[in-house]
Amino acid sequence: MEKEITLELVRVTEAAALMASRYLGRGDKEMVDKMASDAMRGMLDYIEMKGTVVLGEGEKDKAPMLYLGEQVGRWADDDPELDIAVDPIDGTRLVAYGLPNAISVIAATEKGGIEFLPTYYSYKLAVGPELAGKLDINATIRENLRVAAAILGMEISELTCVVLNRDRHREIIDEIRRVGARIKLISDGDIAAAIATALPESNVNIYIGIGGSPEALLAAAALKSLGGEIQVKLWPIDENERNKLLEMGYDLEKVYKTDDLIKSDNVIFAATGVTDGDMLKGVRFYKNTAITESIVMRSRTRTIRRIIAQHNLNYKTIPLKSSGEIKYVNGLRRNM
Ligand code: FBP
Repeated sequence: MEKEITLELVRVTEAAALMASRYLGRGDKEMVDKMASDAMRGMLDYIEMKGTVVLGEGEKDKAPMLYLGEQVGRWADDDPELDIAVDPIDGTRLVAYGLPNAISVIAATEKGGIEFLPTYYSYKLAVGPELAGKLDINATIRENLRVAAAILGMEISELTCVVLNRDRHREIIDEIRRVGARIKLISDGDIAAAIATALPESNVNIYIGIGGSPEALLAAAALKSLGGEIQVKLWPIDENERNKLLEMGYDLEKVYKTDDLIKSDNVIFAATGVTDGDMLKGVRFYKNTAITESIVMRSRTRTIRRIIAQHNLNYKTIPLKSSGEIKYVNGLRRNM
């Protein structure tokens, strides 16, 4: 894959974050998602690649853009063929209510590099490099916390676990409390939470719980470069889905590891902060200027870059592609 694509992907998530951040706190999560998707879709066509969306906003008949199978990029004869995975905003509710930890995310791999997960939800366990390969999603929480504390040289009471604050996590939360570790309950946005386990400055050791399957794949794309690990099991929502999966031949006990989820050794991951979080600062507006913070990484070289960009709002142009044709927002400020 061309090195240049790495920076192009950052421009995509920057554009999505900038557009979405204009709707901070307005209570309209659909609008947040729409504006981010429009900008992401528009920017993608500037990349010199033959891109195919393999993880995006859903099936073709349900999503106007960034649907599965959609072709994105320039598609010139000698452009590289890439599979593209996107989440224009992970944490649309967070942006709609001005809450922390919302990010815009993209990953690109060689063709066939991203596994297909058939369920909406997965059960996930994510950790940073020191704990990679050491915990087991099938072990008890008590056992995993004991092993984590021993390896990290910490008391269990000093460990921090992140869990989505959902009723379905009652048992997990109660057990972590009984064993005595610290918990950070988040209301949304588990891509950033899973990745945070691999960022020492975030002070998070374990992410555990049931969240979206696409989010698991995108977190895996980042953890591959960061040397962390995510373990995932399919999590059917009811008996009906469980039976369907079994009929289709899926093994519900299978544990997908990072390399099963991202099968290519060459994956690029980029994310831009929309609201302030453990991983990235959100979009900040000043007179004439917006500042974005992004992270971008390539698994082949394991280089991690943080990019702080200053966008002049009088000149910033963002291509939007909501319905086929590209429309430009020329001078973002005049259009705010
Ligand atoms: P959206 O931004 O698409 O709303 O997803 C936010 C999110 O919190 C994910 O980070 C997480 O994986 C998933 O929703 C959890 O799903 P649910 O809200 O149904 O529990």
